[in-house]
Amino acid sequence: MNRVIIIFGVSVLVAFLEAPFVKMTNAVCKSYNKSWVVVHYCRLKAYSRNKTSLNINATFIEPANNIFLKMKMMKKASGYKPFLFDYTIDACEFMRKRNQPFAKIVWNLFKHLSTVNHTCPYVGLQMVSDFHHIELPFVLPTGDYLLLLDWIFDGKPQFATNVYFTFVEDLLKT
Ligand SMILES: *[C@@H]1O[C@H](CO)[C@@H](O)[C@H](O)[C@H]1NC(C)=O
Ligand SMILES: *[C@@H]1O[C@H](CO)[C@@H](O)[C@H](O)[C@H]1NC(C)=O
Ligand SMILES: *[C@@H]1O[C@H](CO)[C@@H](O)[C@H](O)[C@H]1NC(C)=O
Ligand SMILES: *[C@@H]1O[C@H](CO)[C@@H](O)[C@H](O)[C@H]1NC(C)=O
Repeated sequence: MNRVIIIFGVSVLVAFLEAPFVKMTNAVCKSYNKSWVVVHYCRLKAYSRNKTSLNINATFIEPANNIFLKMKMMKKASGYKPFLFDYTIDACEFMRKRNQPFAKIVWNLFKHLSTVNHTCPYVGLQMVSDFHHIELPFVLPTGDYLLLLDWIFDGKPQFATNVYFTFVEDLLKT
């Protein structure tokens, strides 16, 4: 057989067998200031043993004009430890300019599902409905993770949306 075809075939097989796997395992939202942000609903819905979707419904009582998002990844290793990134972006500037390559990755995950596709200010009901299509552009080591998202309005943390997930690098090894 042609060598190129064999290499192609092996690559497809490896890509198929090693398809990484992500499952959200818990979602915890918390308002630090209930006169600005009220979280009504923050829950995972189970589709099957290995598929869940994220649903968040919250109200911003006052308009938010100055929003920073602090994204911090944690990996479980006898308690959750900081891992890979701890990164803060100016969310209002990002929505105007789409100027942060890293935030773009996160945005591309959510843009079809949420009520947030516009520029600042944000006020009233904010929703993420049935978010489940997770495509990470990078591969993580197999393990349990926690993505801490802290939302900072006018320089002060107002609420957090924290998502726990499991990543399996290679299904064959588990
Ligand atoms: C809490 O929210 C109120 C209403 O928007 C705001 O005036 C106040 O500054 C906020 N407090 C803190 C500590 O951010
Ligand atoms: C958001 O949650 C509130 C409180 O549970 C509920 O009254 C409202 O209908 C929800 N909105 C949507 C669009 O789901
Ligand atoms: C999801 O779970 C089912 C049943 O447990 C299993 O057959 C399937 O291979 C799993 N899919 C993935 C992507 O792990
Ligand atoms: C988001 O809004 C922009 C500008 O209004 C629009 O071009 C784009 O199609 C929207 N994206 C989605 C996924 O709705």
